[in-house]
Amino acid sequence: RTVLVLNGPNLNRLGSREPEKYGSETIADLRRELAEICPADVRIDLRQTNDEAELMSWLYEATDERIPVILNPAAFTHYSYALRDAAAQVTGAGVPLIEVHLTNPHAREAFRHTSVISGVATGVIAGFGFDSYRLALRHLLDR
Ligand code: DQA
Repeated sequence: RTVLVLNGPNLNRLGSREPEKYGSETIADLRRELAEICPADVRIDLRQTNDEAELMSWLYEATDERIPVILNPAAFTHYSYALRDAAAQVTGAGVPLIEVHLTNPHAREAFRHTSVISGVATGVIAGFGFDSYRLALRHLLDR
């Protein structure tokens, strides 16, 4: 069993990027912390890209291979209809896709209040830092 943990633009900068909002831990810390709570028979495949097309290709992979997804679409959340259409293929195939955010976008600038992804996600967890990912993983492991 594999869980894909996909991260969009600027999340490679975690640790140094606006630490007052996003914390001081890095994407490598996230990978390690998720692996720590994962049973031995589940593999966490955590990836990050700044490239919309690459992120879309990973969602096709999830669709075709039926791999559950935890997705932080980062800024793409707010405007990428292409990513939404790719995410719709995942959940349309009956494969869970959980949208996660470190911060609570609803408590931030107005342009962050819209997610074009949420309408095709299985569920959304936002505002809990790395715990947003942990809670999403917990759900996928329990189901
Ligand atoms: C984010 C929230 C987005 O609005 C922002 O563009 C990000 C990170 C979050 O995890 O809080 O890059 O998805």
